[in-house]
Amino acid sequence: MSLEKLEVEIDRELKQIGEEGRLKAPERVIIEVIPPSGDRGPRFKLRGSDREFIRMNSNGYLGLAYDKRLNKAAHEITGKLGVGPTAVRFIDGTYAPHVDLEEKLAKFHKKEGAKIFSSAYMANLGLAICLTNQKTYYISDELNHNSIIRSLRVAGVKSENKAVFKHNDMGDVEAKLAAVPSGTERAVVIFDGVFSMRGDNAPMGKTIKICGEFDSKFKDGVISVVDDSHGTAAYGETGRGTPEIAGGMGVDIITSTMGKGIGSNGGYVAASAKVIELLRQRADTYIYTNPVAVADAAASAKALDIIESKEGKGLLAKVKENALYFRKHIEGMGYETLPGQHPIVPVLVRDTIKTRKLVSSLFDQGILVVGLTFPVVPKGDETIRTQLCANHTKSDIDYVIDAFRKAGKETGLIN
Ligand SMILES: Cc1ncc(COP(=O)(O)O)c(C=O)c1O
Repeated sequence: MSLEKLEVEIDRELKQIGEEGRLKAPERVIIEVIPPSGDRGPRFKLRGSDREFIRMNSNGYLGLAYDKRLNKAAHEITGKLGVGPTAVRFIDGTYAPHVDLEEKLAKFHKKEGAKIFSSAYMANLGLAICLTNQKTYYISDELNHNSIIRSLRVAGVKSENKAVFKHNDMGDVEAKLAAVPSGTERAVVIFDGVFSMRGDNAPMGKTIKICGEFDSKFKDGVISVVDDSHGTAAYGETGRGTPEIAGGMGVDIITSTMGKGIGSNGGYVAASAKVIELLRQRADTYIYTNPVAVADAAASAKALDIIESKEGKGLLAKVKENALYFRKHIEGMGYETLPGQHPIVPVLVRDTIKTRKLVSSLFDQGILVVGLTFPVVPKGDETIRTQLCANHTKSDIDYVIDAFRKAGKETGLIN
């Protein structure tokens, strides 16, 4: 036996991905993080280069990934409980930091319970497995994250059991709910809180109101689910994300990540105690796979303590201030953005070649950004996604603004 025959097929597949322009570039490898000092935020060194870069593509909105207190919490607990859990949760792979964190997450989101998963991707999949039966019908935003789209497929949701609504279009949510086929017992309206490619957010208050209006039509009701991976610990005065800023605190189920604003790693679901118990009993991506390391759990718990403190509110205010400052200057020099207040600031280029040139010019100036081109975004929507963090200093942001000015002029995007 050999892989020779399979590899012929793989070559064909990779060639096709390349011809479609979808081949991912080789990954850059970070070898060193230089801590902030003075008016310089953190700098990053890449393998094969002596230069130092500013990251404008990090999801670590509050800068907590490099916080010494998280590092200490992770280090200390690892010394006591070990590097890995050595088993899944129900076979004595449950350690104190896991359950302590679940309590904290539930409290943070004002829910009865929470369950942690190895990632938000796995949390979305576990939840979809648990909510889906023959009589479940999903209504899902067209721009939802891949983890939601794929989870519904993996959970076996048939095409006749789901509808996709136009992005953030509440009239369409209503129309889709009104058109749910008879025999449906459970409708699930599922959406990202913040849309990661655009930085805009779901109008959650309105969505929840509409769900309430249709609730009595279904035996199990209409269940609202938000994936707030980019909202948690990034958005809102207290970091409670989209529910906090869009008046959607009554959302039934929240899924989120600890790998972005919280600065650590892992995912979770926060909901009623019964939903959480169902996940424990039935979510394969919880039951049959190891939990995050205790280091991740302890670091996340420490991050939540910081977020809940005065200092945390300061970090949240700072990331907002940074985002608004950057946005104002980028728009002021003639770039197109999408309206919003989130630390994701998309800079619309609307051309693949120019996007690549801009990314390359910024790289040459010591800035890491990500260019989004077709098919990640529709043709004509090519964008550079920038993300502001609380640990970007004013001097860093001014430098990046100047670099955008230079790159924009070089590529003819701005005058
Ligand atoms: C909306 C959304 N959901 C889920 C995820 C996945 O998060 P994790 O890395 O914890 O699996 C992401 C990350 O890209 C995301 O943007």
